[in-house]
Amino acid sequence: MEKAELIWLNGEFVPWDEAKVHVLSHGLHYGSGVFEGIRCYETERGPAIFRHREHLERLAKSAEMFYLEMPFSGEQIRSATHELIVRNGLRSCYIRPLAFRGYGEMGLYAPTAPIDVMVAVWPWGAYLGEEGKEKGIRARVSSWRRISPAGLIPHSKASGQYLNSILAKTESANAGYEEAILLDERGFVCEGSGENVFLVREGTLVTPPHTASILDGISRKSVIQIARDLGYTVVERDVARAELYLAEEIFLTGTAAELVPVREIDDHSIGEPGEITRHVQGKYEDALCGRAEEYLEWLDFVDQPAPVDEGSKVTS
Ligand SMILES: Cc1ncc(COP(=O)(O)O)c(C=O)c1O
Repeated sequence: MEKAELIWLNGEFVPWDEAKVHVLSHGLHYGSGVFEGIRCYETERGPAIFRHREHLERLAKSAEMFYLEMPFSGEQIRSATHELIVRNGLRSCYIRPLAFRGYGEMGLYAPTAPIDVMVAVWPWGAYLGEEGKEKGIRARVSSWRRISPAGLIPHSKASGQYLNSILAKTESANAGYEEAILLDERGFVCEGSGENVFLVREGTLVTPPHTASILDGISRKSVIQIARDLGYTVVERDVARAELYLAEEIFLTGTAAELVPVREIDDHSIGEPGEITRHVQGKYEDALCGRAEEYLEWLDFVDQPAPVDEGSKVTS
């Protein structure tokens, strides 16, 4: 990965290589952490973070659901992130806040172990590649089912839960596919290992509902709104596995991957990215980069220090 200069850790800006934790940190052993994946884009008005507040709200809710008491408010993390982007001199980047149970007490119930919070930012290109966004990717239905709400909390973006996504992703990568699609515990389509999924069926956009164990994706929410604003019908309903094979178009949405068409699923050809996928993808990318006036409110602009005007410098 490409390093930046500084990482924000528990209220301090520390050099990248010195942002360290103790090996007995609770989160390292049990996965007791929650995190976010956010992106900052270069726009005409400077760097802007896409739906920053919504991501920080989800972080707080993820923490609350696992009884982790956040020692910093969303607003404190937000302003630290702004400063971090500026101090690292970045115009666009990936943003990774993480809150985890730290060092101090072991065992499953460790209420006295502190909650450590960090934010890292670094340059990170499209997760499934620029070519994937352009031409579409090959995906495969995973033999691993998405975590069940009977045993974990799919709505929480919690670190330990990602072992499930890692199994699915690893299986698909080892078999030569770019992404895995997980079914939920009932056998209905759920989502990708790090993205939500949309299908086009008879001209209508269809995406699995909250009750199908999905993560409530912020890209998903944005794409639903954009598609509706463009005049498409979007339905949230259970999707049978075979509907993936019968779909006219399929695409994935996520912060890291953005909007990625699927051109093949389980070795069934879906074909080149379709018209609806392209239409929504174009508008979504305009929204991310501040080119869509109607979605500017989704952007959290990072104030850059004013450039020094040499002519107006006061010399004493
Ligand atoms: C399991 C999972 N599903 C869906 C998503 C998409 O969510 P978002 O659009 O908020 O990035 C992600 C990424 O955060 C994810 O990890």
